[in-house]
Amino acid sequence: MPPRTPKTTAAPWVPDHGGLPALQRAARDCRGCDLWRKATGTVFGEGPAHPDLVLVGEQPGDKEDLAGHPFVGPAGRVLDEALEAVGIDRGHAYVTNAVKHFKWERGSGQRRIHAKPNQVEIQACRPWIEAELRVLRPKVLVCLGSTAAQALLGRTFRVTLHRGEWIPSPLAPHVLATVHPSSILRASDEAARAEAMAAFIRDLRPVSRLLASAETRSASPGP
Ligand code: URA
Ligand code: SF4
Repeated sequence: MPPRTPKTTAAPWVPDHGGLPALQRAARDCRGCDLWRKATGTVFGEGPAHPDLVLVGEQPGDKEDLAGHPFVGPAGRVLDEALEAVGIDRGHAYVTNAVKHFKWERGSGQRRIHAKPNQVEIQACRPWIEAELRVLRPKVLVCLGSTAAQALLGRTFRVTLHRGEWIPSPLAPHVLATVHPSSILRASDEAARAEAMAAFIRDLRPVSRLLASAETRSASPGP
């Protein structure tokens, strides 16, 4: 029999009990695909243990890789701005990525340029986000950009067609996808940037409304 090639997957590293701290700890040593080789370290999700909202991005960027925390660079600032505009406290959300290691190529000079994770890498890393969602059980799940949306909602999902809509999914009671905040940074000029930001904020409004109504319900005295 030919030797079996090991499958590219994080699965063997994912503990099946121990909750979030156990996942965070185990993810540091993940070798489920090759992306760990060039990265500083694993950037796992962060936030409260019982969040109503989970936000999922693509993968850590240069700043996140160096800091070891998700969405702390320029895309994180756009995200913060949009969350603030709709009245969502980022401290109440759990923020994570579909892929947990920074994939990059050498640009001009010493710059590390973001490279898109491929299907093999996205699928390899999926057991981590699945485990996060299993232990967090958020009310609302928001996919930021097509990598997160396709990783979680299927490869045929089109953010451009369904952004800002509630999508039926077994992953959470309420699931929505919108653009990635870095797409706003790539807008060609100031007017396009402002328009893209306004659309991003518009997509996040139903999330904010839903969270606010859930809060009101749980705060009101029972019958
Ligand atoms: N982009 C992402 O998708 N995630 C991060 O954590 C930072 C930038
Ligand atoms: Fe593991 Fe995901 Fe990192 Fe690949 S990208 S090594 S699957 S944590």
